[in-house]
Amino acid sequence: MSSSGTNPPPERVESGEFVSVAWELLLPAASAPARRRGRALQSALREAVRSGSLVPGTRLPSSRALAADLRVSRGLVTEAYEQLTAEGYLRSEQGAGTWVSGVVRPAIPGARDLAPRALGARVDFRSGTPDLSLFPRSAWAATYRSVLRRLPHSALGYPDPRGLPELREALAALLTRRRGVVADPERLVVCSGVAQAMTLLGFVLHGRGMRTVGVEDPGSPEHTALFASAAIATTGLPLDDEGLAAEPLERSGVRAVVTTPAHQFPTGIAYSAARRSRLLDWARATDGLIVEDDYDGDFRYDRAPVGALQGLDPQHVAYTGSVSKSLAPGLRLGWLLAPATMTDEIVARKRTMDLGNPAVDQAVLAEFIGGGGYDRQLRRCQRAYRERRDALTATLAKYFPGTEVSGIAAGLHIIARLPGRHGPEPVFMARAAAAGVALRPLSDFGTVASTDRRVSLVLGYAQLAPQDIVQGVRLLAAAQRGTAGPDIGGGRVFI
Ligand SMILES: Cc1ncc(COP(=O)(O)O)c(C=O)c1O
Repeated sequence: MSSSGTNPPPERVESGEFVSVAWELLLPAASAPARRRGRALQSALREAVRSGSLVPGTRLPSSRALAADLRVSRGLVTEAYEQLTAEGYLRSEQGAGTWVSGVVRPAIPGARDLAPRALGARVDFRSGTPDLSLFPRSAWAATYRSVLRRLPHSALGYPDPRGLPELREALAALLTRRRGVVADPERLVVCSGVAQAMTLLGFVLHGRGMRTVGVEDPGSPEHTALFASAAIATTGLPLDDEGLAAEPLERSGVRAVVTTPAHQFPTGIAYSAARRSRLLDWARATDGLIVEDDYDGDFRYDRAPVGALQGLDPQHVAYTGSVSKSLAPGLRLGWLLAPATMTDEIVARKRTMDLGNPAVDQAVLAEFIGGGGYDRQLRRCQRAYRERRDALTATLAKYFPGTEVSGIAAGLHIIARLPGRHGPEPVFMARAAAAGVALRPLSDFGTVASTDRRVSLVLGYAQLAPQDIVQGVRLLAAAQRGTAGPDIGGGRVFI
């Protein structure tokens, strides 16, 4: 094995860190057709380092051990280690082994959440993506054709950076009707999803001298990453049973806070009426800003969705949402409605950022909403997702009796707290990965230490057919009993 010639880092993470992700990341490569297996292994390993799944300093198993665990020839592993060492991803030293080098900088925190589905996972419960096969292709294609037929040439020039007037009007009517938002089309800005809305707000707040915003903890790592791109730091604020805890917010000194009141991400709490009003009191008293990320507010299964916080005080709430859950994240279409005093600066930022969203796509969405297609799509998704949620809760009750589920009334994921006998969490997660089930524990999303020792999982169900949900839970149960299939090594070295 070649050596990079430099000293190993002082701190090396033991190979336990490696093995917890190894099955999930390397197994598909190991079962690739023989002629592509070597390259597949190298790509999977490279990607694991690049994405930050394998952190610098992580010690890799010996080539002999990894080859045996993956059931590939040792030569393939040696070759992969040599290739990646030559490229700088790994470092190795005679007698000291191989470890992940410190040269590669992983993507910004949270970027892993937006990664495509776990390669090779048999069942992927990670939340974040709707069922993309429910995208209304025929209706969308018909609308596209109709729009292209009727749009004048002039409409293909640079659009209004706020968005096409017809889309802003359609969205304003939709959000007023469905989410109780106070939506003036003149103040609504069409943008590339919630992600761009956060960045736009970040730039504007930074321009006004703000350097820190509050975020929910646990919460979405994306919020932190997006504000960081505008040079704004985030400070995590704890939750209680009713939503973001009021007193820590009041004590924190922040003047802006990012929230997910309709279905808190990831705990699934719907903020209580009392907490919504207390937050608004805070915003009024401090002249603060509540950023409302309504990422899956359309989906509520037991009754009509709770209206948006913004409707109660549009001067202190910046409201954002997108079609990422209702249609497809790949459309990159969303909206931002900020307090009137911020609109001009937001539009100026939007103009310098990208000169506006693609005109044809905007026109298509406007016509799709106006023609009733969007409401039909929501009804269709709602039916499908309710059925999947029911399948998940029923199957958990059957295979993991005593599990406490929460956050089930809305959204596209639930929290499952398993009875104590299923811990500790790292063992549970390693067994799940060994069984080919991709999922994330609640602890991945927060920094506030929990006294609850139970294994708590964030389970996304929207993207899985009911039969896949049942299979996933059964695989998990079998893995926990130690009866996972032999094709994946039974988790032997991983626990
Ligand atoms: C908390 C949260 N907000 C927003 C989004 C959606 O972002 P976007 O609208 O940019 O696709 C997601 C996506 O999974 C999310 O988890």
